[in-house]
Amino acid sequence: MIVQIISKNFKIENSHKLKVALKHDRYSSLKRLFSLTPNEVIEEVAKSGLRGKGGGGAHTGDKWKLMPQNHEKPSYLVVNADESEPGTFKDRQIMEHDPHLLIEGIINSSYAIGANHAYIYIRGEYLFCTKRLNDAIEEAYKAGYLGKKVAGFDYKLDITVHRGAGAYICGEKSALLESLEGKRGHPRLKPQQKEPEWFFGAPTVVNNVETIASVPYIISNGFKNYRNYGTQESPGTMLFGLSGHVENPGIYELPFGVNMKDVIETIGGGVKGSKKLKAVIPGGSSCQILKADEIENITLDYESLKAHGSTLGTGGMIIIDKDTSIPKVMKNLFEFYHHESCGQCTPCREGCGWVDKILGKLLDKKGTRKDFDTILDACEMLNGKTICVFAPSVAFIANSYISKFQDEFYSLCKN
Ligand SMILES: Cc1cc2nc3c(=O)[nH]c(=O)nc-3n(C[C@H](O)[C@H](O)[C@H](O)COP(=O)(O)O)c2cc1C
Ligand code: SF4
Repeated sequence: MIVQIISKNFKIENSHKLKVALKHDRYSSLKRLFSLTPNEVIEEVAKSGLRGKGGGGAHTGDKWKLMPQNHEKPSYLVVNADESEPGTFKDRQIMEHDPHLLIEGIINSSYAIGANHAYIYIRGEYLFCTKRLNDAIEEAYKAGYLGKKVAGFDYKLDITVHRGAGAYICGEKSALLESLEGKRGHPRLKPQQKEPEWFFGAPTVVNNVETIASVPYIISNGFKNYRNYGTQESPGTMLFGLSGHVENPGIYELPFGVNMKDVIETIGGGVKGSKKLKAVIPGGSSCQILKADEIENITLDYESLKAHGSTLGTGGMIIIDKDTSIPKVMKNLFEFYHHESCGQCTPCREGCGWVDKILGKLLDKKGTRKDFDTILDACEMLNGKTICVFAPSVAFIANSYISKFQDEFYSLCKN
């Protein structure tokens, strides 16, 4: 079941060092890359069907095609390394174990979109990854893989690493760009039509670390080889995560389309302590929860998760055993969302706080059915009346917890 496109070098000793990385294929895509025109590279990525691994699953090639040709301002690539979603720890593996893969991906992607400067916006708490990246970038400059003539070809590229200050919302691409511009990390209003992102008014692509790290394989091996993995609509592989009550937590690269239950039972070794499974949060904390009996026929791809009323998200599965209180799980998440709401929109700022507070009251056995109804009202307000999708996502997940485990919530109410 396990495949190795992105994770190939993870277990090789000193794989983060250029000398070792070069022996294991790193920078080998550049020869073919520079034999293609930027548009041909975009076409290759579009045909591969590569989808963004930051949570939304947007088609990468389609996003790149939105970049204007011959714009008066320079183009930029911004790599989203903010990785703050609870249950998600995959990008970190790339940055720690194979930073040169990310740099190679950045060279491929920047060349395709006509950028000569790329930024990596990294989660503030990822100090070790930041050091690994900076060291690898320094090595790449010294060896001529970055700078005025990348690998001796007539193409210039610089990379700057920028550390965030620890805000979850700065993973949202427009908040990230605001923060990178030196402002408060507040999401921007969405444009009416599809267009690139804008960094200091210049056309910009924002892509997740794993998305960018997938590009060298596609360029080296061609789009057809990438499509040998996965499904028609969700081609390729993803670094899936297993955490929570599971015997073998970790990150595993799998082709899209494998059965979720099989993955938990075989690769994951089953629920910790051989307990019964109660629920799974399928792709990071912002995905609707699934009951154990719902996962039987779910395959790990965008379409299957959607058809079963949830989302694939970042692929980080959180396993929950039968002894876990779902209201406590929800309270834990709402403490996080309450803290991380950027506060621009009243329904989000106040709503997350209210739900957090009332859940606390219920768990203290001081709440009533009326309090429970207030949670439902607050969730109603969160949905659809805000600047970004943070609040509607929180409303969706809250509804899934409450509707699927209503008895557990009712049992906490005094009347
Ligand atoms: C609240 C919120 C947090 C997000 N956090 C991240 C993150 O940490 N990393 C990430 O790559 N994308 C995150 N995203 C998605 C980004 O906005 C964006 O869609 C993504 O970086 C695009 O890259 P991709 O197309 O390669 O997935 C977040 C979105 C939202 C709404
Ligand atoms: S929905 Fe929440 S996180 Fe998003 S802009 Fe509004 S207040 Fe900020």
